[in-house]
Amino acid sequence: MVELFDYDAELSRYHVRLRAAADVRTADRVLDIGCGTGQTTRDAARSATSGSALGVDLSRAMVDRARELSERDGVRNVTFERADAQVHPFPPAGFTLALSRFGTMFFTDPVAAFGNIGRALRPGARLVQLVWQAPDRQEWSGAIRRALAGGASTPAGQAAFSLADPAVATGVLTAAGFTAVELTEVSEPVYYGPDAAAARDAILGLRMAEELLAGLDTAATARALDRLLAMLDTHDTGAGVWFGSGAWLITARRR
Ligand SMILES: C[S@@+](CC[C@H](N)C(=O)[O-])C[C@H]1O[C@@H](n2cnc3c(N)ncnc32)[C@H](O)[C@@H]1O
Repeated sequence: MVELFDYDAELSRYHVRLRAAADVRTADRVLDIGCGTGQTTRDAARSATSGSALGVDLSRAMVDRARELSERDGVRNVTFERADAQVHPFPPAGFTLALSRFGTMFFTDPVAAFGNIGRALRPGARLVQLVWQAPDRQEWSGAIRRALAGGASTPAGQAAFSLADPAVATGVLTAAGFTAVELTEVSEPVYYGPDAAAARDAILGLRMAEELLAGLDTAATARALDRLLAMLDTHDTGAGVWFGSGAWLITARRR
């Protein structure tokens, strides 16, 4: 079985915030963008008792796991598709609510992508999403980068923060045909595992770790992993390894 990063564990505190903001109604038809293994999609489907939820993700492995978990949990009104949300031909006006838990920051052309998502929504329908604030608000990002890079300059490309600037996020959504854009600050800790060794193993499943370790020889990799383990140990609260973080909860309506 493919080892997938456990976003449900990492983002458990944010999950509660997104669910409250999404406020899924019984008849909603929900689109979950970048759904990963589908926790948010299944939750939406459980609330939309006479409606349904579709989760889309680029990753085949994520979608396969999402289907397995839904089958296991007996959630019947949920479906998943491996699809690029930027360009996928969704049914026009086919959904009454779009949501995303940190799945919308990776678009190459965000205005076109959100335009595509907007066309999938009924006029007036809501978009509710969580995105990361800037890297300097993310204790996890800086600490992991410093530990793995060990003083070397780290790669600049950080797509995860592409909607961190409120002016950029508002501009993108407005240009894509959304209105009533509102950003609310949400600061919750993120969890990486029960102890430093488990957190290290989890973090090695992240693309940022893969990028930071690429090109290192065996000895340099071993030193980087030692630094990572030592750093994670300092974040072990006794109730797991936690880091501070900050996000925007962004809500908007399709015009
Ligand atoms: C940080 S993960 C979050 C996953 C999930 N929303 C969760 O909270 O567990 C981001 C997800 O977005 C997906 N993703 C990135 N770009 C995408 C795109 N253009 N279309 C669909 N999914 C995308 C990735 O494959 C990844 O699973």
